[in-house]
Amino acid sequence: SDDELHARIRAAKEALGERLVILGHFYQRDEVVQHADFVGDSFQLANAALTKPDADTIVFCGVHFMAETADILARPEQHVILPNLAAGCSMADMADEDSVEAAWEELMELYADEDTSDGRASVVPVTYMNSSAALKAFCGRHGGIVCTSSNAATVLEWAFEQGRRVLFFPDQHLGRNTGKAMGVPLEQMPMINPRKPGLGVEPQELLDARVLLWPGFCSVHKRFTVAQIDQARAQHPGVKVVVHPESPMPVVDAADAAGSTDFIRKFVAASEPGDVIAIGTEINLVNRLAADYPDRTIFCLDPVICPCSTMYRIHPGYLAWVLDGLLEGEVRNEIVVDEDVATHAKVALERMLAALP
Ligand code: 13P
Ligand code: SF4
Repeated sequence: SDDELHARIRAAKEALGERLVILGHFYQRDEVVQHADFVGDSFQLANAALTKPDADTIVFCGVHFMAETADILARPEQHVILPNLAAGCSMADMADEDSVEAAWEELMELYADEDTSDGRASVVPVTYMNSSAALKAFCGRHGGIVCTSSNAATVLEWAFEQGRRVLFFPDQHLGRNTGKAMGVPLEQMPMINPRKPGLGVEPQELLDARVLLWPGFCSVHKRFTVAQIDQARAQHPGVKVVVHPESPMPVVDAADAAGSTDFIRKFVAASEPGDVIAIGTEINLVNRLAADYPDRTIFCLDPVICPCSTMYRIHPGYLAWVLDGLLEGEVRNEIVVDEDVATHAKVALERMLAALP
């Protein structure tokens, strides 16, 4: 039964003590979050992996790229476990290493004659945290950097100091929303098509570009629409609308605020009793905030329940199974990033940490 499962997890945690730390992303279901030692957004969880040097094992209740990042940042002796190896991220899968390498080669050829005597590169690769370790390593090797939804503007500012343009992958929406907020005109943010000759964009457009957008997106956040915001405003005059920046640009523009999952949590925490708040992000976080603040009306912009199907693959049953393994001295579902990949990926992650105020 569920009660037995939760009792098993609690007993294993008790037995493993300080040797174990369980991290949980805000999008995890409550049955999992209740067992996490630390809950946060993807940046905070990466930091938590860095700041838990005493634990032998980090059990990461999130998705694959998050566990990979924890493994890259953790001490070499620490084990990182993803309770269900099928918990990936469809957005991260939209940029594979070969396609990014091929697009990069094409850009290098186009920009070959550009004058870089001022020390600024023609293009700086920026990868969203939601990407494979191989792409973070690509950025590490090519003077690039990693960003998360909580620091994308600061990271883009850093990138513009290093170069004339940015190649931003995999999330077109985070790239476009951040570039727009920084004053980059839309016509200087073309979306490339890595499958088409010339990347599907006129050469002059590629030369004039400031942010080259990869065509990736999040299937959860692309569902939010301006019509939903209009409807929320019509039904609840005075409603405050807050969305995640993986949402399409017109949605972010129509909202009152946009930011990472932790930004959304803080936005709600700063509201007043009686406030009405419509949220554009994953349903587990929205429902938890609604339960935590019963004196406010908090609802999801999308009336059709929209969980992140891969985050949802972390079931308490898997958590219990990996903890049972640890009790028996067996590390199940370990995430191990290849050493060479990890070395270069760490360079790009450390550039992000160094760029932050
Ligand atoms: P945060 O960086 O805001 O936690 O978002 C991670 C994510 O996967 C959002 O879809
Ligand atoms: Fe990936 Fe979207 Fe799920 Fe976040 S919500 S893990 S971006 S699929």
